[in-house]
Amino acid sequence: MSGGQGPGPIAPALLAWFSQNARALPFRQDPTPYHIWVSEIMLQQTRVAAALEHYRRFMAALPDVEALAACGEEELFKLWEGLGYYSRARNLQKAAKLVCQRYGGRLPASYEELKKLPGVGDYTAGAIASIAFGLPAPAVDGNVLRVFARLYNDRADIADPATRRRFTRRVMDQQPKDMPGPFNEALMELGALVCLPGASPACEACPLAGQCLAKAAGAQRELPVKAPPKARRVQPVTALVVRNPRGDCLLQRRPDKGLLAGLWQPLLFEEELTLARALERLEALGLRPDKAAPPRPLPAAKHIFTHVEWRMSGWQLTAAGDAPAGCVWAPPEQAAGRYALPGAFKAWRALLTGG
Ligand code: ADE
Repeated sequence: MSGGQGPGPIAPALLAWFSQNARALPFRQDPTPYHIWVSEIMLQQTRVAAALEHYRRFMAALPDVEALAACGEEELFKLWEGLGYYSRARNLQKAAKLVCQRYGGRLPASYEELKKLPGVGDYTAGAIASIAFGLPAPAVDGNVLRVFARLYNDRADIADPATRRRFTRRVMDQQPKDMPGPFNEALMELGALVCLPGASPACEACPLAGQCLAKAAGAQRELPVKAPPKARRVQPVTALVVRNPRGDCLLQRRPDKGLLAGLWQPLLFEEELTLARALERLEALGLRPDKAAPPRPLPAAKHIFTHVEWRMSGWQLTAAGDAPAGCVWAPPEQAAGRYALPGAFKAWRALLTGG
């Protein structure tokens, strides 16, 4: 912090602003623990606008913890399709089953108990505890870190866990005991709507502008400071989009563990292969490429995951034979409707689904 002084209490101006400016989001209309939980999991790594349609569909299909616990995995992944980070969906369901077994289908009203659920970390536990149960708890996401870096004109690295802990203590010092939920949500909302990242904070619209130490120092555009993440590994990927003479598309289920676990893909090799080598692999799986119809290159694509970047290329072709182990021949209408195809294959989706 620059100087010894903080920004003073922020709750009164922040809460007054929030009461006038909160977006009418569906989970705010009926903030049950289940609604808050699912929405907060969806909103991790996904923008509010992009998550809303998924949230509505999800709640229409799975209106309560019991329904989520009982849902089939394929249906769950279908509901999650497009949101990415599918382990979030898998953890949601694991947690739902635990909530049914241990807590009679009700999420526990305790920050510490919530944190024991799969996929529920500090942030999500704090959001559920404060927003759904009205308990004092921190819910510090990237938006809140940015707001606090600026309010306190603090140049510490927000990627550093020690900085996060320090900022979390400041959040709790500022949080009014009787309004933890609105306070936390107001901070997130301020970060999402006003205290925007980079060069574009809307300080003229900010209820805390008069208290903001970064603004006073003219430093708001330089904050927060965040050390760059480690470089991602680049992984070449070769795919074969294979159809049989009936027009069914070969889909392969990914392993139960690791990246995109249990989701579906075209026949995929996580290495760079020439066409000749790729065809050898295909034949080794018992499939016979149609010699009369030469393979056509797929459009090159790339997909960025948290720790790895796929550089994707491949071919589409026709081949006959039984589906190899772990694969199915999916008729075009099923390829789209029944099997969850991760966003990584977006560039080839129409080729895979026949759509
Ligand atoms: N981002 C994540 N959770 C949010 C919430 N509850 N309100 C606004 N933005 C959010």
